[in-house]
Amino acid sequence: MKVLVATDKPFAKVAVDGIREVIEGAGFELALLEKYGDKANLLAAVADTDAIIIRSDVIDAEVLDAAKQLKIVVRAGAGYDNVDLAAATVHGVCVMNTPGQNSNAVAELALGMMVYAVRNLYNGTSGGELKGKKLGIHAYGNVGRNVARIAKGFGMDIYAYDAYCPDETMTADDVTPVASAKELYEQCQIVSLHIPATPETKESINYALLKDMPKGAVLVNTARKEVINEAELIQLMEERTDFKYMTDIMPAANSKFLELFPERYFSTPKKMGAQTAEANINAGIAAAHQIVGFLKEGCERFRVNV
Ligand code: 3PG
Repeated sequence: MKVLVATDKPFAKVAVDGIREVIEGAGFELALLEKYGDKANLLAAVADTDAIIIRSDVIDAEVLDAAKQLKIVVRAGAGYDNVDLAAATVHGVCVMNTPGQNSNAVAELALGMMVYAVRNLYNGTSGGELKGKKLGIHAYGNVGRNVARIAKGFGMDIYAYDAYCPDETMTADDVTPVASAKELYEQCQIVSLHIPATPETKESINYALLKDMPKGAVLVNTARKEVINEAELIQLMEERTDFKYMTDIMPAANSKFLELFPERYFSTPKKMGAQTAEANINAGIAAAHQIVGFLKEGCERFRVNV
């Protein structure tokens, strides 16, 4: 059996070594396709593979058509919006993610971006502090919970909104649950986004939601660019010169954020919330174990397609 690690944005070497140990230890072959750039390279590499480990790499019907022997795809990470789940089901391919494995890395970056924002992008002027500020966590999953844990150390006053998470889970963490996204954005000067990209959440972070954030607002997006209505956020930032947007996800190529708001907007050059050796090791090795469990014992824990 052949397992392919197909990562256009490669894992740290130490994570690849760990994945190799698990896969080869189980008697399987490991192939590596990194920084492949052109989709044609991915299509060629999947032709004779039984299992694939990916990150944000797109697995669509064309890739599935080309992967005649494929049985399982594991997204080493949380969000699986890059995989066509329905097409995978039609092709008889199991899709899994590795929830929670990279969430501390994303949460640490989110807090780092908050500090960067309130310190005026380290431009030397007098900034503010996180202590005592109201933080709104939009979606209280694995990343949201880690953000709350770290924010507590900064002395922030923490609120969260998540339609799918019981209030008790939040209150047990000393986090105040609020009843709607609207309420969260109205109350909190700093909001950290952790919603998945789905048809329902697409462009849901819009002018109407953001306009009532308190003065000195900071929006931190380490989730997905698709959830932001970029045109409306630009409109809002043009109207509100106190509003800052920090993200680790490059906005659309034609967006004007950097040109228009060089002192209130920041993005990393690549999506990099989970780009740490630790997160790569956790998620990559979990993915390798899940593949071995599936191929050897039919274990379908963490399956996300039906
Ligand atoms: C995730 O969904 O797990 C994170 O967004 C990390 O994605 P990445 O593996 O592409 O860095």
